[in-house]
Amino acid sequence: MKVLGIETSCDETAAAIVERDVGGHGRILANIVRSQLEEHAPFGGVVPELAARAHVSHLDRLIRRASETAGIPLAEVDAIAATAGPGLIGGVLVGLTTAKALAAALGKPLIAVNHLEGHALTARLTNGIGFPYLLLLVSGGHSQFVLVRGVGDYERWGTTIDDALGEAFDKVAKLLGLGLPGGPAVERRAQAGDPRRFRFPKPLLRESRLDFSFSGLKTAVRLAAEEIAPLSEVDIADICASFEATVTEIVATRARQALARFRTDLPQAEARLVVAGGVAANRRIGASLRTVAAESGVELVIPPAGLCTDNGAMIAWAGAERLALGGRDGFDFAARPRWPLDMPGMAVNAA
Ligand code: KG4
Ligand code: ZN
Repeated sequence: MKVLGIETSCDETAAAIVERDVGGHGRILANIVRSQLEEHAPFGGVVPELAARAHVSHLDRLIRRASETAGIPLAEVDAIAATAGPGLIGGVLVGLTTAKALAAALGKPLIAVNHLEGHALTARLTNGIGFPYLLLLVSGGHSQFVLVRGVGDYERWGTTIDDALGEAFDKVAKLLGLGLPGGPAVERRAQAGDPRRFRFPKPLLRESRLDFSFSGLKTAVRLAAEEIAPLSEVDIADICASFEATVTEIVATRARQALARFRTDLPQAEARLVVAGGVAANRRIGASLRTVAAESGVELVIPPAGLCTDNGAMIAWAGAERLALGGRDGFDFAARPRWPLDMPGMAVNAA
């Protein structure tokens, strides 16, 4: 089956066509992403109203390009999937309404996809892994450990009590004047820096719960920067490297704990760790998680960077996985600004 996927929940407008064969293997036929970086750059962050308008301006063209690139007329796809939340509501409405219109006009099923489920299932598209697995989702809006038991079957083991990890990267970049997107900018500067020059706090790490807290860390970075201002290029590199090393240690420690719980709670299952979301593109964090996984004898899957950050293929794939199980959604499905992965309504809703 072939599914068109539409993603408009934040500042990427994206459309993709993905194929899923009867064996459950996936193939990306087209994956078109348009970043809105330029629109938001003058404001130092994503402006929701501008994002929604940019989605309106570009989505139709991106869908047409996805169809042309895949060589598949829209009349030949088996379903239309779109992010229905969580995210900036204006943008989500643009994508979901477009998907409903297409589904109605073409007489195809509509699949309303949870954006987080898109991230959660990407590793099955890229690496064909089976269930269950432990997911570490680290993006601009979320930092959580989720036990993925199956499509629509999630249990959240821990989350951030304040900022998301990507958000912490973005805020550190902003206070250092590094521009958007923050994560890659901090990573680039960190490469030349000394990760041991600054000692930043590791909030919550003494507690055994699987939660994160990054807001105190961000404040500590700000205070350190203010203390030595004006900042030289070396100072900026050292702050970036020290911050990146600190969050890497936090993430690695938590991953070790989460894997230990996986082994205790699911003794029969093969332990697997999947990392998803934009921050999964960070090389220092990825390398550290590779070490943790190797030490624990666990398979680690990190999808390619372009499929870790927001894209349409992950939404098309989540739609295909739900469609394969008989899922389809009504045209009355409302866009959801908040939509936790472990909500009861996530189970596939057979037609
Ligand atoms: O998954 P994503 O594209 O969008 C959300 O759903 O949030 O994640 C975007 C986040 C941003 O906060 C961005 O700064 C961060 O992921 N990010 C990174 C890197 N690439 C993107 N953070 C650290 N290192 C990176 N290389
Ligand atoms: Zn995302």
